[in-house]
Amino acid sequence: MSKRITPLIIGNWKMNGTLLESMQNIKKLRSKIHNSLIGCQIIICPPFTLLRDFAEKVPNTGIKLGGQNCHHASEGSFTGEISANMLKNMTCEYVILGHSERRANCNENSELIAKKAKNAYNSGLTAIICVGETLQEKENDLTNVVVREQIINSLPDVAKSSNTVIAYEPVWAIGSGKIPTFEEIEETHKLIQDVIKSERPDFGEEITVIYGGSVDENNSSNILAIPGVDGLLVGRASLDVDKFWQIIESCDKN
Ligand code: PGA
Repeated sequence: MSKRITPLIIGNWKMNGTLLESMQNIKKLRSKIHNSLIGCQIIICPPFTLLRDFAEKVPNTGIKLGGQNCHHASEGSFTGEISANMLKNMTCEYVILGHSERRANCNENSELIAKKAKNAYNSGLTAIICVGETLQEKENDLTNVVVREQIINSLPDVAKSSNTVIAYEPVWAIGSGKIPTFEEIEETHKLIQDVIKSERPDFGEEITVIYGGSVDENNSSNILAIPGVDGLLVGRASLDVDKFWQIIESCDKN
């Protein structure tokens, strides 16, 4: 089945990559892209320390850049933080917000994520807002309740389908090698569309909903083929250019 939109393939590098190895990786990715026709939009979200160098290397390559987080204020006395404007200044077009690692380790709740998203929009960034249930919530049959709550509270009033991507990332699937059944992924992606349609009739066209959590070069093609999956958020497998490239190529099979 052909896709509604060009799929997004997003590499979330997390806290990985020194300058030298990362520049070699981006060079390798650029040369693979140069020799191919690709059927997706590639977005790399490296650590902040690499953005300046990547900003010089990626224009006109087909790769777009994103940050992994931003602050909810536009500037000021926030030691150690990065603003949406700073990301924009480094040519980022996207920012990941509400990743479960930040929800869990930095106590970020949906209300804070909505504030960050508002700031991201003010700087002209598209917010990639992550939602997903923990294993305990899944086992207690709470996936729909949790995802619904996160969607309703993490999207600020000014969110639209043109400035927002939702990443469904079951917490228990991240880095574990386990993924939900394809039926479960389809159902949750449909739930996300339904919640937005009923709660936010002003939202505009269908929102882009991507899947993340243990995506690799072996399962990417099948996950992309699931109705309602508009792309992939890839962690570990995005750090290996050859594996990431196979994931990018799997877009052509759908
Ligand atoms: P993973 O991470 O692909 O390593 O499971 C995905 C993510 O955390 O975005």
